[in-house]
Amino acid sequence: MINPHLTVNQNGHLMIGGCDTVELAKKFGTPLYVIDEQQVRENCRLFKDSIEKNYKKGMVVFASKALNCLEMCRIVKQEGLGLDVVSGGELYTAIKAGFPSEHIFFHGNNKTTDELEMALEENVGRIIVDNIFELEELDELARKMNKTAKIMFRIKPGIDAHTHDFIRTGQIDSKFGFALENGEAFDAVRRAAALQNVKLMGLHCHIGSQIFDNRPFVEAAEVMLNFYLKIKKELGLTLEDLNLGGGFGIKYVEQDDPVGYDQFMGSVSDVVHDFCSKNDMDIPRMLIEPGRSIVGPAGLTLYTVGAVKEIKDVRNYVTIDGGMTDNPRYALYKSAYTIMIANKADQPADYTATVAGKCCESGDLIQEGAQMAKPEKGDILAVLATGAYNYSMASNYNRIPRPAMVMVKDGQAREIIRRESYEDLIRNDI
Ligand code: LLP
Repeated sequence: MINPHLTVNQNGHLMIGGCDTVELAKKFGTPLYVIDEQQVRENCRLFKDSIEKNYKKGMVVFASKALNCLEMCRIVKQEGLGLDVVSGGELYTAIKAGFPSEHIFFHGNNKTTDELEMALEENVGRIIVDNIFELEELDELARKMNKTAKIMFRIKPGIDAHTHDFIRTGQIDSKFGFALENGEAFDAVRRAAALQNVKLMGLHCHIGSQIFDNRPFVEAAEVMLNFYLKIKKELGLTLEDLNLGGGFGIKYVEQDDPVGYDQFMGSVSDVVHDFCSKNDMDIPRMLIEPGRSIVGPAGLTLYTVGAVKEIKDVRNYVTIDGGMTDNPRYALYKSAYTIMIANKADQPADYTATVAGKCCESGDLIQEGAQMAKPEKGDILAVLATGAYNYSMASNYNRIPRPAMVMVKDGQAREIIRRESYEDLIRNDI
């Protein structure tokens, strides 16, 4: 089992958070997103404890793009983490959930004027400025609103993290942030220092996602610290915060081998502490922004199996009542997943099949060459580790309503997101 929190009961059914997944499917219908509350909270605490133990002066900020809804915002608030939002919609959800705005970090490479105004209005903790146009606009908006915006800059540190091209962001050829190597970032720092209505608190970088190696993080920290030193020497400015972003890999399949958070924090802390003491620099407050690693492993998705098509000498297709509308990650990135037949969780996974969705699209697949117990129509198929970037990336393609999400804990399940109805689908049609 890729996730030690999952168990199998005496009926051979897959269990999560003390709940029988087959019963959950019966009660709430399929497709169904299921999130284990305890795992989410444990992951929040792992990061928090680890930064406190290894670094001391730090803050964990949940990247809510991985899963943003009212209940997630409430849990993150209760666990004492900050929140990274990337749009007016994510910010709105956080505010509605009562999330303290001073712990909200507002990202985005092309924030609209409305979004910037909203961020200022709500007094978010930090606005992470992506480019010079945004810097000038924000200063002007803040002036009009009689505010001082606490900002950070998104920096491209020039680190190449070895992950999927679409989720690599640290290199110069990226739409995100200010480049270091051509002086763009330095010019922006100088400009910010001259502006009246913004206060530059620190710099941010995010090198990519689903990263399994500590090295790129350590290298990014070194690059950033060298830049802090240059800023201190040449501009006499000391920046308080250093945000190293998220990107910690999780286990989707047996072969995945994520680095322990503690090990990660240990190496990064050593580098920062050494660098600062060697160069007589104040130790900045460290921020990290895990998204996937907080919620990904804690989730799974349940589907009902429809037709099982065995195409001789070609392949077997297992069709499910969801697909790329609730999980577009295979279609987008060919992401690996572990598949199980939830009502046959005690049977050998000796059947090879492609799991296909119900959209009018050949690329609507969840996995190819997956191993599972022999499926039959009516079985419950579980896709594991779908807590991150599934619901948040879901669509209504083919006018398919988005599934419900239930949170499970100690054998109890509660709906935290209602299933969309057909009525919901036409709500905004005129
Ligand atoms: N901070 C920033 C500025 C980010 O852009 C991201 C993710 C994170 C933190 C959180 O990264 P995480 O810890 O979740 O890896 N849809 C893709 C992932 C896109 C990630 C975008 N940014 C996927 O499904 O794999």
